[in-house]
Amino acid sequence: METIQIVGGTPLRGDVRVSGTKNGSLALLAASLLVPGESVIENLPDVSDVGTMIQILRSLGAKCDMVGPRTLRVNAARLSTCEAPEDLVRKMRASFHVAGPLLARLGEARVPRPGGCVIGSRPINYHLQGFGALGAEVSEEHGLVVMRASRLRGGRMFLHPRFRSVGATLNIMMAATLAEGTTVIENASRDPDVVDCARFLVACGAKISGIGGAAMKITGVPRLHGARFAASPDRMEAGTLLLAGAITQGDVTVRGVRVADLLLTLDALRSAASKIQTGRGWIRIQSEGRPKHFDVITAPFPGFPTDLHPLTVVLMSLAQGRSVMEETIFEARFNYVDELSRMGAQIQLKGNTAIVTGVPRLSGASVIAVDLRAGAALGLAGLAAEGETTVGGWEHVRRGYEDLDLKLRSLGAQLTESERPTARLRNVQSG
Ligand code: EPU
Repeated sequence: METIQIVGGTPLRGDVRVSGTKNGSLALLAASLLVPGESVIENLPDVSDVGTMIQILRSLGAKCDMVGPRTLRVNAARLSTCEAPEDLVRKMRASFHVAGPLLARLGEARVPRPGGCVIGSRPINYHLQGFGALGAEVSEEHGLVVMRASRLRGGRMFLHPRFRSVGATLNIMMAATLAEGTTVIENASRDPDVVDCARFLVACGAKISGIGGAAMKITGVPRLHGARFAASPDRMEAGTLLLAGAITQGDVTVRGVRVADLLLTLDALRSAASKIQTGRGWIRIQSEGRPKHFDVITAPFPGFPTDLHPLTVVLMSLAQGRSVMEETIFEARFNYVDELSRMGAQIQLKGNTAIVTGVPRLSGASVIAVDLRAGAALGLAGLAAEGETTVGGWEHVRRGYEDLDLKLRSLGAQLTESERPTARLRNVQSG
């Protein structure tokens, strides 16, 4: 288990640049399987989930070469199998993104069920219903989901309006690009990662309209061609660094961001009495004194992101008065609460709601991260805590944040790690 040690109490100050989006990159990489030729994806973040997705593409027969520090060339001209390897699929939920492209390209996809995870049960019923509506036969054998269709046909489908599933929108959209006829996805996700993936597919020759709207329309084409596309900035990383500024009562400018992707996050930070300034591609947060209490309800984009929930509760834990966090997306998002409570946070759980009574300061403790966002939240709590905090399970954080420890250190955080694995993408060999 990787650990980091933090000595809290230093307000973070300075400028920091965000990396490319983790979730958006995973979608772009999966989408490159639809192209019977070369695609080039730029601005990939150097995180272990991206490394896992590259391994999955290779296991399916795609050639992947790093042609720059953050640029991957994928050649998916010849796919050698429609079956994704279980050991890699089980490492991350997003591996199920390859199902739609494999089904559309090869007429069959065999992908292990990605399984539950620590933030909730995370079923795939919407994905499978979507493939069914496109004419695929779906069955399950020994934990392997088998999807078959000699030719996919366009269809109309309604996703659950409460969730507007990101993953199901991606999978159905990707499969529909090569289907016969037109597909309409009602209650499609408007998430920026879905929008980027749709734009990449359009650059590859797909016909998609309604991108970023409530209903997306995809008219199938016989084949796609390659394109070059850059992943957008990671808005969760940007939100994390801004929250780090607020939590430590510092002055942090985050650069390379898309301000429009973070509007509700900025609203929440303003409610907590942080001063926010924005410009083209940057956001500055200045916080002095204890934050004010504020309330948040998570929702699909453009709502408040569930991925920033645990980090926001750290800020609530330090606010004056009582704040409320209502989680509407993942039932087990609260898995960080016991650990944060060890640091002195006062959090009462009632169903899907956390009632947080702010305390003047948290105290350093030894805590364990069980998932990516929970880990980042505990790290941020350590920055504001009195004394030393040790966060175990930091490998979860490395799944999705590029060098979060180094970036926080560049802002003045006193933070050391027990071991530091060599960078991942920079060492990816050709193949
Ligand atoms: N859902 C179903 N059935 C389905 C699909 C989803 O019931 O077939 C439910 C889920 O259980 C959940 C809700 O719908 O309650 C929303 O799930 P969604 O499909 O939108 O999430 P996802 O695609 O599995 C992506 C991100 C998550 C992010 C969510 C919500 C990736 C790789 N993951 O997951 O990111 O929290 O959207 O925005 O894109 C993270 O980065 O830490 C992370 C968990």
